[in-house]
Amino acid sequence: MLRLEGIHTFYGPIEAVKGIDIEVGQGEIVCLIGSNGAGKSTTLMTISGILRPRSGRVSFEGRDITNVSPHDIVGLGISQVPEGRRIFPRLTVMENLEMGAYSVVGNGQLKTRLEKVFELFPVLGERRKQLGGTLSGGEQQMLAIGRALMCGPKMLLLDEPSLGLAPIIVGKIFRVIKEINDAGVTVLLVEQNAHAALKLSRRGYVLESGRVTTQGTGQELLGNEQVKKAYLGE
Ligand SMILES: Nc1ncnc2c1ncn2[C@@H]1O[C@H](COP(=O)(O)OP(=O)(O)OP(=O)(O)O)[C@@H](O)[C@H]1O
Ligand SMILES: [Mg+2]
Repeated sequence: MLRLEGIHTFYGPIEAVKGIDIEVGQGEIVCLIGSNGAGKSTTLMTISGILRPRSGRVSFEGRDITNVSPHDIVGLGISQVPEGRRIFPRLTVMENLEMGAYSVVGNGQLKTRLEKVFELFPVLGERRKQLGGTLSGGEQQMLAIGRALMCGPKMLLLDEPSLGLAPIIVGKIFRVIKEINDAGVTVLLVEQNAHAALKLSRRGYVLESGRVTTQGTGQELLGNEQVKKAYLGE
């Protein structure tokens, strides 16, 4: 469904992603793990068109999207939940969700999608009039995921959804990601919580200093000695 081939992405003179190849099949949950600065967020932003690779190719459903605008990439069905949530703090929960649906035409569809989000996250329904900035960290993460779902994506890019959350909330977020995937949305998940991410994912890639150093099924990576030492604290 998604293919990255030989992607190099720079910030000015700094090469953050140094020639990576990644594939995500339809219906999969695939994770990217790696330490701080490995290039995980840069990779997601290259997929969503926010950053342009200096070389290489990104294709989605067989179509070259390397030079497609971020707005049109959302229209093709890829929606990103950015690192740090980035919800609109001065807008209500409802308004935040509506912002995610700016490309959706018709009130009927808007209503159906809102209902789906409130089904996944009942707390957002209860707090629909509350300002985004006054939600707890976990609720803000739910709102960020809900907002990304409002455009009806085929693929969700999640950047560290569990960061800074209490273990009980982390469990809830991971269960919801599974539910979203079960409902037919393909997921590319970036996580520092490697254990939970690999357990949830069919396949995973390990990124180190802008390069893929290891890849395999979630099970294989959970059993990999280097991965255990570097990322699972074993
Ligand atoms: N705006 C920027 N300008 C210059 N360098 C940047 C910028 N953003 C990221 N980098 C550099 O690019 C490299 C990859 O950063 P990136 O944010 O992709 O890492 P990451 O794997 O997401 O890390 P983290 O786990 O800390 O979120 C790092 O060396 C970082 O310092
Ligand atoms: Mg990051």
